[in-house]
Amino acid sequence: MNITIRQGVLAQENTAMITVGVYENEPLDDILVPLLETDDFKGKLKQDSLLYPRTALPARRALLIGMGKRSDATVNTLRHAAAHASRKAKDLKLADYTIALPFPADVSIESCVQAIVEGTRLGHYSFLEYKSSLSDEELHTVENVTILLDEQSNVDEARQGVFYGQAITEGVILARNLANAPGNTLTPAQLGDIAQEVGTQHGLKVRVLAGEDLVDFGGLLAVGKGSVQTPRFIIVEYGTASDDIPTICLVGKGITFDTGGISIKPSDKMDDMKMDMSGAAAVLGTMRVLADIQPPLHVVCLISAAENMPDAAAYKPGDIIKTLSGKTVEVLNTDAEGRIVLADALHYAQQYNPQAIVDVATLTGAIVIALGPHATGVMGNNQPLIDRLLKAGTITHERVWQLPLWQEHKELMKSTFADIKNISGRPASSTTAAAFLSEFVGTCAWAHLDIAGTAWTDKPPFDYISKGATGVGVRLLTHMLRDWNTKEK
Ligand code: BES
Ligand code: ZN
Ligand code: ZN
Repeated sequence: MNITIRQGVLAQENTAMITVGVYENEPLDDILVPLLETDDFKGKLKQDSLLYPRTALPARRALLIGMGKRSDATVNTLRHAAAHASRKAKDLKLADYTIALPFPADVSIESCVQAIVEGTRLGHYSFLEYKSSLSDEELHTVENVTILLDEQSNVDEARQGVFYGQAITEGVILARNLANAPGNTLTPAQLGDIAQEVGTQHGLKVRVLAGEDLVDFGGLLAVGKGSVQTPRFIIVEYGTASDDIPTICLVGKGITFDTGGISIKPSDKMDDMKMDMSGAAAVLGTMRVLADIQPPLHVVCLISAAENMPDAAAYKPGDIIKTLSGKTVEVLNTDAEGRIVLADALHYAQQYNPQAIVDVATLTGAIVIALGPHATGVMGNNQPLIDRLLKAGTITHERVWQLPLWQEHKELMKSTFADIKNISGRPASSTTAAAFLSEFVGTCAWAHLDIAGTAWTDKPPFDYISKGATGVGVRLLTHMLRDWNTKEK
C-alpha cells in the first residue's frame, strides 16, 4: 500500500473517498455542512457516516469519522480512526482514498502521521493464508492512500512519520503472522528458518542453534524432549558491539505449542496455545523494524523455541534439570515451561554485557486474571528500565502495568531438592514466575513483559487490531529503542 502526503484542502480532493475526522460537538468544515441535513452525526468516538456528496465535492464519497472529545484525543484516536477508514475502503473495494484527520494538541506531526499510517495498514490486516476461497472484499487491497495536510504543516516531518509508520507496520504484521500460524506449520525449526529469511532480507546476522549445539541448554532441551519437533535457539543481531553504543538484549518465549506437557492443560481453548510463541514473534518483529529504522544501538534478540508436549520422553513433575547457568530446577509443573526455556536465554544474554535485557513472554494465566486484555504486566530489577517501558506503553497505547517483585517472592521459589523450583502455587503467580526468571539475569538491568493477556484477542478493542494475534510488543519495544539514547537514564 502506497501512502503519500499531500498539502491541500478538502474541497479540491478528487478521490473515491475523502475521510474526515470530526471532534465531538465541534463545527464541521463549511464545505461539509450542506451534506448533512440532520444533526445525527455528532462526532462521538467510533461514530461514522458515509455520505455521497454528488456535486458538492469532487470526491465521490465522504466518510465522517467521530473522534470523540478533542481534550481526550491521543495518537491512538488517530490510529483507530485511520484503521476504520481503511476497513471501510476495503469493504467498498476502493482503489484509493484520502484521509484528513484533525491532530490532537501537543503531538508532533511526525507522531500523528506515523499513527495514521499504522492504523491504515493494520486496518487492512487479516490472516488468510489457510483459506482456500476468498471473497472479493477479502482479496481487495487499497493501493493508494493520501494523507491530506494543511498548508502550514511541515511535510518533511510528516514524511518521516510515513517512513516510521511503514517500518513499524511491517514488524507488527510479521509478529501477527507468526503468532496466528498453526502449531503444525510453525514449529521451532520453521521459526528458525523464518528468522534466517528475515535476517537475509533485512541485513541482520542470524544464527540458529540446534542438536549438538544445545547440549548445555538444559532448560530448553527438557521442555522440548516430549516433542518430535526438536528445539531451536535463535540469535538475531542488529548492529555490532562497540564501546560507543549500548547493547540491548531482547529475549522471546518461543513455545510453538503449549499443551502443558505431562501436567496437561484442559482441552477447552487449548488451540489458542499456538500463540505461546508471541514473545518470540514480538522480538523478531521488532528486529525487522530496527533493520529499517537503523537506531544507533546494538540489539541482540534471543529466542528459545520448543514445543511442549506430553510423551514417553517428556520431562515430568519431580524431574530436576540443570540449566545453561548451572543452576538446577525442580520441575513441579510441566506447564510452567516458559520460564524454564527463558532461563537459558536470559543466562545466555549475559555474555553480551548488555545495558538492559527485556524478555517478552506469554508467561502466566494469572496476568490475564490481574490485568485482563488491557495491559501487559511488567516486573524487573531496574526501575529506570521499567519506567522506559511504562512510558513507551502510554505513548504507543500498548499499555504496561507494573507488578511488584520483592525478595519475599524470590523466597517462594526455593526448592527442597534443587536450587529453585518452577512453581510456587497460585498466590502472586505472575510475580513468582518473574522471581524465577530473576535468578538467571545475574547483575544485568532486566525487565520482564508478561503478554499472556495482550498477545491474543477474541474481541478487538480498536479497528487496527483483528481477531487472533495482536502483534503486541513490536510498537512498544520499537518506541523504547528508538528513544533509547535520548531518554534520561
Ligand atoms: N502459556 C501459558 C500461559 C498462558 C496462559 C498464555 C493464557 C496465554 C494465555 C504458560 O506456559 C502456562 O501454562 N502457565 C501456567 C503456569 C502455572 C502452571 C504455574 C499458568 O499460568 O497456568
Ligand atoms: Zn504452559
Ligand atoms: Zn506456555
